[in-house]
Amino acid sequence: MIRATSQGKHGYRSPLPHDDSSARKGLRSAGFLIFLILHGSSFALANDSIGDAAAAIEHDFVSAAKCKSCHGKELMGDQYGTWLKGVHHGAYETLKNSRAETIAREKQLGLPAFEAPQCLVCHVTAFGVPKSRIREHITPQDGVQCESCHGPGRDYRKKKVMSKLRRARSAGLWEPEEDHGICLRCHNSQSPTHDPQRYTLSDGSTSDFDYEQAMQKISHPIPEHVKGHYLELRAEQKAEEKRRKKLGR
Ligand code: HEC
Ligand code: HEC
Ligand code: HEC
Ligand code: HEC
Repeated sequence: MIRATSQGKHGYRSPLPHDDSSARKGLRSAGFLIFLILHGSSFALANDSIGDAAAAIEHDFVSAAKCKSCHGKELMGDQYGTWLKGVHHGAYETLKNSRAETIAREKQLGLPAFEAPQCLVCHVTAFGVPKSRIREHITPQDGVQCESCHGPGRDYRKKKVMSKLRRARSAGLWEPEEDHGICLRCHNSQSPTHDPQRYTLSDGSTSDFDYEQAMQKISHPIPEHVKGHYLELRAEQKAEEKRRKKLGR
């Protein structure tokens, strides 16, 4: 299966063509055509402008469990724990609810929603990505995880790379705060429950998506006093633990 698509700056495909201006603002399409060859994907997606497949062109996926070892730490701000309780982690389970069932029936998918490629493409991470590009087991039960927004993590997750933003970027870390097109890959009118008036903007008008408000709902910051200093603070924490052990407390 060979397809021509326009590629965004992060190696994923922007959700073009798209019909509303709020979406266009966030898009930075590089404007050149690439040919994407999807190995091991036996079906043709209804729309090839969505999903994580193109993200794996340059880097491999490793699963949220790999991020947890550092980003599950309390000192770090436990981004993993926040995500686990959040709406994206539940995105796969949602495909089992009665609304999903009704949509699948109406669309005559011939499969339950939680098995249908037409739904999974936005409700789990790395759907349609060739197996060779997925280095650790990614369970659908994790729904939409870190790498759907931060990029496939195999090359940037290492401590020495992660702690230097410049290095992390060149190893494939995306910055969704700079490129809202990352959200719009899934938050667009291809979603059967898409609501063009979901968000009310400060001027009273409505929009299908508003990055600032949406981000507030899923916020998972590094604590301010830790940002930029995690490794030093973690080293101090470890030294303190060791000292206490020695003293037998
Ligand atoms: C070995 C530990 C480690 C692992 C594993 C790890 N990270 Fe990090 N990450 C860090 C450190 C350290 C920082 C910098 C923290 C600071 O501000 O001092 C960081 C920073 C970040 C940032 C903020 C970058 C910025 O400054 O804007 C993001 C986003 C991030 N990591 C995502 C991830 C994701 C997604 C994964 C899994 C694919 C992951 N990390 C795996 C240690 C790790
Ligand atoms: C890989 C697809 C995907 C990406 C990328 C994605 N989302 Fe989502 N998002 C979903 C799905 C699917 C749901 C519905 C989950 C559910 O209800 O179970 C959702 C739900 C949400 C919701 C709750 C519904 C709403 O609109 O109020 C917010 C907020 C949200 N996402 C914010 C974001 C933001 C901000 C970004 C970008 C930084 C983003 N999402 C990127 C798939 C995605
Ligand atoms: C283009 C990406 C995309 C596709 C494809 C997609 N979804 Fe979603 N889905 C989302 C996003 C984003 C949300 C949250 C915001 C919204 O409703 O658009 C969501 C939310 C949902 C919800 C929760 C709505 C609520 O708040 O009650 C259900 C149920 C759902 N989707 C079912 C499905 C089913 C069934 C399919 C397949 C026929 C499907 N989705 C395909 C992106 C997608
Ligand atoms: C739906 C998209 C989405 C998912 C899923 C997601 N993030 Fe993020 N993350 C963002 C966005 C957008 C930002 C930037 C927020 C900002 O700077 O306002 C961010 C910021 C961060 C930061 C930097 C916080 C700071 O204070 O600078 C870290 C670290 C991080 N994410 C780690 C993770 C990890 C680990 C996971 C998975 C367990 C994850 N994220 C899941 C979208 C996402």
